[in-house]
Amino acid sequence: MPVTPDLFADEPMADSRPARVAIGEQACVLRGFALAAAPLLWSDIEAVARAAPFRHMLTPGGQRMSVATTSCGEWGWITDRRGYRYARGDPESGRPWPAMPSSWMRLAHDAAAAAGFDGFAPDACLINRYEPGTRMSLHQDRDERDFGAPIVSVSLGIAAVFLFGGQQRADKAARVPLQHGDVVVWGGVDRLRFHGVMPLREDVHPLLGAQRINLTFRRAA
Ligand code: SIN
Ligand code: FE2
Repeated sequence: MPVTPDLFADEPMADSRPARVAIGEQACVLRGFALAAAPLLWSDIEAVARAAPFRHMLTPGGQRMSVATTSCGEWGWITDRRGYRYARGDPESGRPWPAMPSSWMRLAHDAAAAAGFDGFAPDACLINRYEPGTRMSLHQDRDERDFGAPIVSVSLGIAAVFLFGGQQRADKAARVPLQHGDVVVWGGVDRLRFHGVMPLREDVHPLLGAQRINLTFRRAA
């Protein structure tokens, strides 16, 4: 029986997008890699946020971040007037960060492997919450002890445009559209590339509502 096009009318466009899109020599987007895991990720995120609530941290310069953050795993990334760094516990509560769910670790490990980085074992997961209008300015991830491990970054919720720049802040940045379920991995020669997120457009996602959540998995220590 011939397959009629309308048989797939309700299928998400994601299915026709290429699975792995290179954005650098050792950097790529894995389209929809976290799509199947997303509902469980989202309920885990809500549980983490009950134990370690989202907060707007201060940059060393005293600016309140527009993106709200929390963490899970052995180490959590924090910023305050004293600088950017990793902390063993949540400075708000004095308690350890919530444990990183083992399914998250597996997802990050498998995404890294699919991007060419074997043996990734994250000890930190930064959870960023963006509302429409918020952005992340260009920066490098360089608070980790060594840069041998890649960065694995999972997008959930409303769409965003990721900026993937060069080794210098002034280098031109590529605009990479990211959707719910996409995973970006960068490491090796691309590990210290500047990156950021353009201001989010107003939108509502069926699962997460009017927000985007980004999970950034790293090897901090
Ligand atoms: C970050 O680099 O910290 C976040 C990137 C993103 O939200 O996609
Ligand atoms: Fe980053």
